[in-house]
Amino acid sequence: MMGAMARTLWLVGMMGAGKSAVGSRLAARLGRAFVDTDALVESVAGKSIAAIFADEGEASFRSLERAAIERVAGRPAIVALGGGAIAQPGMAERLRASGKVVYLRASPETLLARIGDAERRPLLAGLAAAARLSRVRELLQTREPDYARATCVVDADDGDVDAVTDRILEALGEARGEEGRAMRTVQVPLGERSYAIRIGVDTLDQAGAAIAACTEARRAVVVTVPEVGRRYGARLERSLRAAGIKSRRLVVADGERSKSLRVLAKLYEDLLDFDADRGTVVIALGGGVVGDLAGFLAATFLRGVPFVQVPTTMLAMADASVGGKVAVDLARGKNLVGAFHQPRLVWMDLATLRSLPRRQRANGLVEVIKHGVIRDVALFERFERDIERVLDLEPGPTLDVLERSCQIKAEVVAQDEREEGLRMILNFGHTLAHAIETLLGYRKLLHGEAVGIGMVFAARRSEAMGLAPAGVADRIEALLERAGLPTEPPDLPRRAYLDALRVDKKRKDGHVRFIAVRELGKAEIVRLSPAEILPRGALGTGRR
Ligand SMILES: NC(=O)c1ccc[n+]([C@@H]2O[C@H](COP(=O)([O-])OP(=O)(O)OC[C@H]3O[C@@H](n4cnc5c(N)ncnc54)[C@H](O)[C@@H]3O)[C@@H](O)[C@H]2O)c1
Ligand SMILES: [Zn+2]
Repeated sequence: MMGAMARTLWLVGMMGAGKSAVGSRLAARLGRAFVDTDALVESVAGKSIAAIFADEGEASFRSLERAAIERVAGRPAIVALGGGAIAQPGMAERLRASGKVVYLRASPETLLARIGDAERRPLLAGLAAAARLSRVRELLQTREPDYARATCVVDADDGDVDAVTDRILEALGEARGEEGRAMRTVQVPLGERSYAIRIGVDTLDQAGAAIAACTEARRAVVVTVPEVGRRYGARLERSLRAAGIKSRRLVVADGERSKSLRVLAKLYEDLLDFDADRGTVVIALGGGVVGDLAGFLAATFLRGVPFVQVPTTMLAMADASVGGKVAVDLARGKNLVGAFHQPRLVWMDLATLRSLPRRQRANGLVEVIKHGVIRDVALFERFERDIERVLDLEPGPTLDVLERSCQIKAEVVAQDEREEGLRMILNFGHTLAHAIETLLGYRKLLHGEAVGIGMVFAARRSEAMGLAPAGVADRIEALLERAGLPTEPPDLPRRAYLDALRVDKKRKDGHVRFIAVRELGKAEIVRLSPAEILPRGALGTGRR
């Protein structure tokens, strides 16, 4: 992937264009070093840029800057240059000869708003606010001809570091070409209930047309939570309108508590108010909570209406939106009232994950890693190579792993839609996870985090029972740690865990169907009693 960019990538532009933030992100994505020449100059000179300007004048600063540039020229690093560097005589040629130059362009207003404490910027110090704007305008005007000699110009006005980074990679042809970002399709083959999962980047605008094509619906309700609706609702609704579908947004409160009969009752009323009929499509826009709730709504309203999933969390993309299980909770337990109701379409736009906090991204990835452990060693090894890039949502690797993950889940679901046999291997890691969730009352740990702990535990138990070769658990643990995920069971007495295992709802005749790993990529169901799952010492030494 790096062939075309074997040498230095120079970022030029005005102060406030975002060169440092974008440069660091770019460096992280490409696995390269990041250098800021201003910082280099300051460390060489032992004083701030402002002090160099004040004590020795601009000429002295420029010669230090030139020396710093010479130190890195030709090295495979991402280098952010000071705003005036490229305007120096001969500099544009020097930069282009040693690599590629990207100009981050932003308007004077944006630049000034981002500069903040202007007193630290020598070229603005001592000016009144109004004078600063004209000074920035003036500087931009003089420098623009030099900036324009960059290899490419990238718009940086929106200040979205990830989006700007994507644009740069695209402009440089480094984004694995069009093909790497092209939409992926995974078919879930369930006879007349078959449907497609479409996975892409920045595809929300096309969702409406796709929904129209697979439902014949003229009306839609979009079920979502406030934050997700605010960010992505309008784009989805605009695309529905463009496809001739009239829609209404139904917003429920954020969090698991919305997966309740009370909220459901309200949604039925909302559907009636909207004159919904059997052709009205229910669209879930959000995480697993919205998906389960809206899915159960769709399964039951008028004995079932068309349903579409637009998942916006990693967990919902990796797991909850595929497979047709929908449910609400009762006070006495999660998912106690539910149905199987397959969607007509699952529309995944990875761009929506950019606003998802990193902890939530890692949380959802656990189920993807799980798919690798139980079914596909190549997927697991892909994570061993690229997990950081996936956490950064780099399009190529993220599309690859989600596509593979969906294929695996689709395959397993297609063979066992109602969870009578094979589908149970998807519960790998979940036996202990459910016990942990019961004991912690679903607080503190997110579902995926608990599953990660359960996976390491299940792999260790598999090794101890002689089912799996040594080393499997260590590899799973190392991978989870790289994603910042916990791997140790919460410190509670063994007795408490045993009690929690005994109430596992998947238990039959005193036994729990424990999912063991045989080797990476292969899992198997074994019937064990709680005491066999959790013999003394299984939680680690020192645990009773
Ligand atoms: N049906 C199934 O097969 C299945 C499988 C696994 C989990 N689930 C269910 O899924 C639920 C958990 O799903 P979840 O982890 O997605 O939780 P969630 O839906 O509560 O989402 C997690 C948080 O992320 C926020 N969020 C969602 N999208 C965002 C975005 N793009 N940017 C920023 N914030 C965003 C949400 O508002 C929420 O605060 C549980 O109820 C679980 O039972 C169902
Ligand atoms: Zn799960």
